[in-house]
Amino acid sequence: MFSLPKNVTLIEVGPRDGLQNENNSIPTDQKLAFIHALQNAGIKEMEITSFVSPKWVPQMADASEIVHRVKKLGRQLVLTPNARGAENALEAGAESIAVFVGVSDTFNRHNINRSTAESMELLQPIITQAKEDGHFVRACISTAFHCPYEGFIPPAQTMALCQQFVRMGVDELSVADTDGMANPSASYSLFLALKEQFPDILITAHFHDTRKLGLANIYASLQAGVDRFDTSAGGLGGCPFAPGATGNVATEDVLYLLDSLEIETGIDREKICAAVDTVAPYLSRPIETAMYNLYKRNH
Ligand code: HMG
Ligand code: MG
Repeated sequence: MFSLPKNVTLIEVGPRDGLQNENNSIPTDQKLAFIHALQNAGIKEMEITSFVSPKWVPQMADASEIVHRVKKLGRQLVLTPNARGAENALEAGAESIAVFVGVSDTFNRHNINRSTAESMELLQPIITQAKEDGHFVRACISTAFHCPYEGFIPPAQTMALCQQFVRMGVDELSVADTDGMANPSASYSLFLALKEQFPDILITAHFHDTRKLGLANIYASLQAGVDRFDTSAGGLGGCPFAPGATGNVATEDVLYLLDSLEIETGIDREKICAAVDTVAPYLSRPIETAMYNLYKRNH
C-alpha cells in the first residue's frame, strides 16, 4: 500500500468557480447563504468570489458586497486578474488574493485578454505589493495539462510557469486541469515533480471532472504526496472561456473517497450536501453527484 497523507485540506471553490459559470443570476443573499452553510460544514479555506470585469463574468459583479458581508472565518480567497481587481479586492477588505494565469497563451488571451508573458509582467508588482502588505497570495495555473485551444501542454512548460510564480513570492500554487483532460499517470508525475521542486510552497490540485477522472486523479495525486485539493460542492463550475469544460470534482464525492481511506478533513459530508440544497433551487442545472443523489434519497 502507498503511504497517503493522514490529513487533507479541501479548498472549496463552489461559490467562485461554481457560480461564475451559472446561467441564472443568483441573488447575493443566496450566495452568502451557500458560503455560510459551507463554513458550517467545516470548510476553512474557500474561494468566495472574483474581482473581474462584470462585462466578462456578470455572475461575479457583486464581489465587493460578498466580501463586505461574509462571516470572516478561515482563509477566504478572491480572484484578481489585474491591478484594478486587486485594488478593488483589498479596498473591500479581502485578506487573501488569488491571481490566475494560463500556461497556454491562447487560453490566457481568451480568459484575460493578455498573453501569458504579459500577464506575468502585470502580476509581478501586484504580488510584490500584496506580500509586502502581509496578504496571502495564491497563484492559479490554468491549462497545466491540456488546453482546449492548443491541446497537450508539456509538463516542463507548466513547471517553468510555476517556477516563475515561486520566484515572485506566492504562498500557494493551485495547479489546474482546466478542461478535465488529465489522467492519473500524468497527475502523479506532475504533482510529484511539483512537490519535489517546491517543498516550501503549498501545492494544491484543481481538477475539473469533465471526463469523470477527477477522483482517480485525486487518488494518484495523494500518492504523490498532495494534501490540498480544490473541490466544488455539487460539482458546480467551469470556466466560461474553456469550451467544453464542466464542473470541478465534487466536494461531497471527494469527501466520500477521503472518509473511506480514513483521511481526516474536518468536513462533514452531510452538511456539504445541505449547503448544496441552499443554492440548488436557484441553478439552471440539476445537481447529479453521487453523494448528493444518495443524500436526496434520505431527505
Ligand atoms: P480587458 O477588456 O482587456 O480589460 O479585460 P481592460 O483593462 O482593457 O479594461 C476594460 C474595461 O474593464 C474597463 O472598463 C475597465 O475599467 C474594466 P470600461 O472603461 O470599459 O467601463 N476592468 C475591470 N472591471 C472590474 N474589475 C476588474 C477590471 N479590469 C478591468 N478587475 C480582464 C481584461 C482581465 C478585466 C477581463 O478579461 C476579465 O475580467 N477576465 C476574467 C475572466 C475570468 O474571470 N475567468 C474565470 C476565472 S479563471 C478560472 O476559472 C480558471 C481557474 O478555475 C483554474 C482552472 O480551472 O483552470 C482559476
Ligand atoms: Mg477551475
